[in-house]
Amino acid sequence: MALRTIREYGDEVLAKKCKEIKLMTPGLSLLIKDMFETMYDAGGVGLAAPQVGVLKRVCVIDTAGSEEDPEPYVLINPEIILAEGEQEGYEGCLSLPGKSGIVKRPDHVIVRALNEKMQPYELEAEGLLARAICHETDHLDGKMYVELVEGELVNNEDLVAAQEDGEEDPE
Ligand code: NI
Repeated sequence: MALRTIREYGDEVLAKKCKEIKLMTPGLSLLIKDMFETMYDAGGVGLAAPQVGVLKRVCVIDTAGSEEDPEPYVLINPEIILAEGEQEGYEGCLSLPGKSGIVKRPDHVIVRALNEKMQPYELEAEGLLARAICHETDHLDGKMYVELVEGELVNNEDLVAAQEDGEEDPE
C-alpha cells in the first residue's frame, strides 16, 4: 500500500466524469487500499478516485472518526436511489485543504453500489454519512462541493476560532 497524491481544486481531472467499473482487478484492489490509506492519513471522511487522478467510479468513506472502531465503506458505481429531507452545515474536501463552506444536502439517502468483491449492496444513511455519500458521488461526475456553497468559503482556522469564541455555531 502507498499514499497517493491528492489532486487539488483547479486540477482538470476533478472536473471530469468517471467511467463505470466492470471488473475487479489487482490494480483496482490496490487503488482502493491506497485510497483508504490516503484518506485516513489526510484526516478525511471520504475520498473519490478522481482525487487521486483515476477516472473510475469508486469512492471510499469512513465517517466514524475512530481508529479502534472504523466503519469503512467502498462504493463502486454508486447510485443514489433515495434522497430526502435536508441538512445544512459546513462541508470541506481534501482537494481544497483548509477551507469549508455551507452546503445543503439531503439528510437521508439510500445508495446502491458494489463492494470491493463486486457484490451489490444498499447503504442507508443519515447525517454526516449521507452528506459524505452525496459529496463523494458528486466527485465521480466531476462536481466539487464549492459549486453548491452558499455564501463564502471560510478558512477552517477562522471557523475554529469563531466556535471557541462562541460566536458561531457551524451546524
Ligand atoms: Ni471532496
